Amino acid sequence: MSVSLQARNTLGLPCQAQRLYEVHTLTELQEALGRCKGPTLLLSGGSNVVLPERWEGTVLVPALRGIRAREEADAVWIDAAAGEPWADLVRWTLDQGWAGLENLSDIPGWVGAAPLQNIGAYGVELADVLVEVQTIDRRDGRLRRWSRQDCAFAYRDSVFKSGEPDTQVVLGLTLCLPRRSALRLDYGDIRSELERMQVESIDARAVAQAVSRLRARKLPDPAKLGNVGSFFKNPQISLAQAQALEQQEPGLVSYPSPQGRKLAAAWLIDRCGLRGQGNGKVACHQDQALVLVNLGGATAADVLSWARHVQDCVRQRFAVDLEIEPRIYG
Ligand code: EPU
Repeated sequence: MSVSLQARNTLGLPCQAQRLYEVHTLTELQEALGRCKGPTLLLSGGSNVVLPERWEGTVLVPALRGIRAREEADAVWIDAAAGEPWADLVRWTLDQGWAGLENLSDIPGWVGAAPLQNIGAYGVELADVLVEVQTIDRRDGRLRRWSRQDCAFAYRDSVFKSGEPDTQVVLGLTLCLPRRSALRLDYGDIRSELERMQVESIDARAVAQAVSRLRARKLPDPAKLGNVGSFFKNPQISLAQAQALEQQEPGLVSYPSPQGRKLAAAWLIDRCGLRGQGNGKVACHQDQALVLVNLGGATAADVLSWARHVQDCVRQRFAVDLEIEPRIYG
């Protein structure tokens, strides 16, 4: 007996696993953890993973559902379970008239995976609104609560990804949306998109719509063209290295970062002439070079060999290393 994970990963890669447990309650999850044999792969929405053709072990899918909100005078507190689709949660909060998550509209994947890479877009990260992560520790079954500080959030990183990988199963998150939070309009093209939309008054729903329109123009729909969003992180380099590169490469796109400057990896890849290029199975997306797309029939090996080619080209031209963003299983 084996089970296919092809429909459970947004790259659409073929993967056969020995067994899969999809659990909907804490009790089911505790029972399943007791039954897991061999290596256990934790899978939620499958929107940030590269899966191997065979997984010799168990796949555990924590699909707990439920959203609860508590309204206070100056903030709304939200508890969301791991198996809720993130984009549905964002839409639901906006429908209730609560601002705070609009810049994070339309991000694929589930709530449970959101803290792993500290999902972020258009100038906002999960870390900006997160209060607590609830987990079960796979080593001893203990229920644990992680404050924002405990999570050690950084750019596309957290304690769950780098510090203690694979030890925690996320059960849910608590978010806090202050009622007086200002709209975040400064990132990239948000203002120009709002102008194009000619909205009468700019509110959270208008920002969400602008983000949706921007995303729809650049990012391929995984239902039509398999992908995991950005395949590489935007590299962070020192100020001195950035200044030297700017001399050499006029037009280089970079932003301030704690380490010095953060470079737009999409621009670097594009500049190497790789936008729209590929190896027959996998390509850099025509409208966003940072997104690798499955042209049909690709396996993990095809994805990784094209990713290596992209890394080699960028290293040769700019002496910059591109770090892969999704989790690679092998
Ligand atoms: N650019 C190019 N060529 C391209 C695409 C973009 O030169 O093919 C240039 C753009 O003109 C722009 C710059 O590169 O000046 C950055 O592009 P973009 O605004 O599209 O953002 P990004 O840095 O490529 C990041 C996140 C995305 C997030 C957007 C918007 C990472 C790894 N990616 O992309 O997140 O949606 O900003 O905030 O940080 C994801 O993580 O999966 C993801 C999609």
